[in-house]
Amino acid sequence: MIPSHTVDEIKNRIDIVEVVSDFVSLKRKGQSMWACCPFHNEKSPSFSVSPVKGFYKCFGCGKSGDALDFVMEMEKLNYVESLKFLAKKYGIEVQEKELTDDQAQQQSERESLYIVLNAAKEYFTSTLWDSQEGRAIGLSYFQERKMTDAILKKFELGFVKDEWDGFYTHALKNGHTEEMLEKAGLLIVKENKKYDRFRGRVIFPIHNVSGRVVGFGARALKKDDKPKYINSPETSVYVKNQVLYGMFQAKQAIRMAENCFLVEGYTDVTSLHEVGIENVVASSGTSLTEGQIKLIQRFSPTITVLYDGDMAGIKASLRGIDMILAQGLNVKMVLLPEGEDPDSYSKALGAEKFKQYLEDKKEDFIHFKANLLAQEAEKDPIKKAESIKEIVSSIAAIPDAIKRTVYIKEAGDLLQIEEQVLIGELNKILRKKTKSSNYSKTEEAVPVTLQPSEQEAIWDPIEIIKYQEQESIRLLLEYAHVELDQETSLQSYLLNELEDVEFLSEIHAEIFNKFREELGKGNTATIDYFIKNGSPEVRRTVIDIISKKRDISSKWKDKHKIFVPEESEKSHLERTALTNILRLKQRVVRKMLEDNIERLKSVSNETEQTEIQQIHSELKKTETEIASLLGNVILK
Ligand code: CTP
Ligand code: MN
Repeated sequence: MIPSHTVDEIKNRIDIVEVVSDFVSLKRKGQSMWACCPFHNEKSPSFSVSPVKGFYKCFGCGKSGDALDFVMEMEKLNYVESLKFLAKKYGIEVQEKELTDDQAQQQSERESLYIVLNAAKEYFTSTLWDSQEGRAIGLSYFQERKMTDAILKKFELGFVKDEWDGFYTHALKNGHTEEMLEKAGLLIVKENKKYDRFRGRVIFPIHNVSGRVVGFGARALKKDDKPKYINSPETSVYVKNQVLYGMFQAKQAIRMAENCFLVEGYTDVTSLHEVGIENVVASSGTSLTEGQIKLIQRFSPTITVLYDGDMAGIKASLRGIDMILAQGLNVKMVLLPEGEDPDSYSKALGAEKFKQYLEDKKEDFIHFKANLLAQEAEKDPIKKAESIKEIVSSIAAIPDAIKRTVYIKEAGDLLQIEEQVLIGELNKILRKKTKSSNYSKTEEAVPVTLQPSEQEAIWDPIEIIKYQEQESIRLLLEYAHVELDQETSLQSYLLNELEDVEFLSEIHAEIFNKFREELGKGNTATIDYFIKNGSPEVRRTVIDIISKKRDISSKWKDKHKIFVPEESEKSHLERTALTNILRLKQRVVRKMLEDNIERLKSVSNETEQTEIQQIHSELKKTETEIASLLGNVILK
């Protein structure tokens, strides 16, 4: 899409230090520049940038690449989007080919909208800071709500006087057209009257993820001014179900924390920033849409919902959460005391106590819901059946079969119901889903992985890989310290070998990263370590791995050729570890092969077909290599 001469121009212009410096602050040490890695949490810098070679590498998490890779990883953009991102940074004009007249017009209309919206923002902020009325009314309002100047500036909050045409006149004078003002939702045109949409209010600009203003929320100053908020209408740059308030200011912190707090209101976001919590976005009072969930997912695997504690509200919002689960996000909840929102409660408690409150009250969503239902069922036994259905339907929404299994177990304990009953219920729902939607066969996966007993296991490559992942973790948990030779411990060997393996389960990946991090510090992450420091999921997984290993029926193991190391004798361990690694890689490659072939079915154009065939033969080669290595190890 982007012409090749433009691509060259962008690539020539890129300076990796400049690009990276927009995200982290680099310090020179020798030939390289160093910083704390933006991709994982760390206290001392192991992220280096080589200006000469033009690439970065983190010695902690292993991520590396050139400036384009950095932007792709950091902003979660694809190749073309990253090129455009960099083009914008360096002011290089990208004339995309094949733009139809219509598209070209739409694009230039969007550009014009951004420009006029930005002008409006400038007008509102300068009214707040530089006009007498702005300071007397707007600024005092914010100050009364204990908002600091720094936060007002960070969120570019503003003020507009109570006039019909203050902004409108100003904008026309500056060359903006009535048409654009109306299209941007700033000017209301009714019959033969024209007037500003926002009047006599404080202004919250709404930014898109890359920081451009796409709309505004304007809050009334007095209690009896209705409505409390007047918001911009949808426009081609403000597609409401794709935007989250605060995302631009939060994304870096969300990535670092691997968690995103979700609140309802604009002021909840700003107040959390006041107490130093920056990984927060607001849904603006509605339930999350799929687009918004995807947006969060670009930056974090976990979302923590802050709820105020009124029962009716909770029950209504519980349903919306199934959709978040269905997208594969982990959901946690923190319940606030009735009548408090994050804004009011963070102010009531102060920074430290509020953060502690979040830490103490944070609860896994399924756990939370099961508890709630268990309490209800206790009071009203007839409700029990209903509760079971409700909790199971949430669990069924989770795409990851292992997670489902863990939750089923927990829900069984909490509701005091036989696990089998819940599994039966779960399978009913999963089957229905399979029939009614485009769920693929593999996704139906009955949670038999850890429930082999008398049930027939379904061949599911994903499950098998995950199982093999678990076995690698188990090796690490049990034998990390064993020296394979003078220089190599089992853990350094295994972690090194598995560096290029992408784990299917996020939790497994998290555990592996912890092992890496600790190893980087010269320590070992032990079972104890995970139990003390791990998130509830990590704890659960580790305990599960340690305690459940012997329950796997040998029939099932044999059937799927799962490699479960049994020797603890040192002489056997190296082979065990190597075999384990190879098996895992073999499985991953097989899965890639399958996926690739699956893709072939759906593409019709020739270049893509060729590409897929090339990938296929590459994968086949790798598979053969692994197989022959495996053969050698096993025969030895
Ligand atoms: N909202 C809205 N229109 C309204 C009321 C609410 O768009 N008439 C949206 C706003 O995005 C608001 C969010 O819903 O931020 C939550 O509403 P509410 O809790 O009433 O407002 P707060 O954000 O708490 O605002 P404040 O603290 O100033 O009362
Ligand atoms: Mn509020």
